[in-house]
Amino acid sequence: MLKAVIPVAGLGTRMLPATKAIPKEMLPLVDKPIIQYIIKECYMAGINEIIFVTHSSKNSIENHFDTSFELKSLLEQKGKQQLLNEINGVLPKNIKIMHVRQGDSNGLGHAVLCAKPFVGDDDFIVILPDVIINEYKCNYEFDNLPAMIERFYLTGKSQILIERVNKEHVEKYGIVDCNNEISNSGSFNNISAIVEKPHKDNSPSDLAVVGRYVLSRDIWPLLERTPIGMSGEIQLTDALSMLLKTHAIEGYHIKGESLDCGDKMGYMKAFFEYSRQHQTFGSQFHRWIKDTVAAV
Ligand code: G1P
Repeated sequence: MLKAVIPVAGLGTRMLPATKAIPKEMLPLVDKPIIQYIIKECYMAGINEIIFVTHSSKNSIENHFDTSFELKSLLEQKGKQQLLNEINGVLPKNIKIMHVRQGDSNGLGHAVLCAKPFVGDDDFIVILPDVIINEYKCNYEFDNLPAMIERFYLTGKSQILIERVNKEHVEKYGIVDCNNEISNSGSFNNISAIVEKPHKDNSPSDLAVVGRYVLSRDIWPLLERTPIGMSGEIQLTDALSMLLKTHAIEGYHIKGESLDCGDKMGYMKAFFEYSRQHQTFGSQFHRWIKDTVAAV
């Protein structure tokens, strides 16, 4: 199975002050940190080797997936079996995590390149942890990442997850051009161009890149010579645009929806969604919301 690269070195400035001392990936969605949902998505897609591209301020991510001997023995002594099971399940047994530091903050393309010594000259997956796939609106085992991986093996074409966004918001994303084809949920679309954060008046479409990539090894030499682009950073989007000149790339139109936890509004929506669907507290929370709305 392909290895997955997860860049976690970003400082989360859009979520300040919450992220002053806590990595944005460790902010909770109800009772689990965001990064734990990402690892679950990897697990459900059959990925078993993950490379975190990280930063000195992000040690708590490493700690979260490490064994906490003291906590385990305390829970054992107190007979708290359910909590113990949850702690033991934080990192599924067959997943290995590796860490590499991104010394300089040079952008997503540079972050991915930092993982090359671990991936080798191989195809690989990139997962951006700001974006979670709403697990209540998709089937983890079949939709999205597994579908993209299967398609990659079948065609050899790199795959990018895309989703329709409000035209007003295209400036926040990489945007693809699919030759005006009508793109439906669950379809694979030939990409003819990709551009990072275009102005809404020049955007080739409203189909945005939403943080899941299955990439052919042909991207490596291109990443190595991608010039500094948007925001003075080395952009993965620019390397993909170079790849397009010689190799076909497909956009897989998301099933379900993505939730962008990297900004405050997106995080609020995700927290709300995961609260109302929560197995134990969901219905209680739902009633409370209904009563609260009715009282306004
Ligand atoms: C990054 C990518 C962008 C993509 C986005 C998805 O941007 O560069 O192409 O659409 O993630 O969240 P960032 O959000 O890091 O600025």
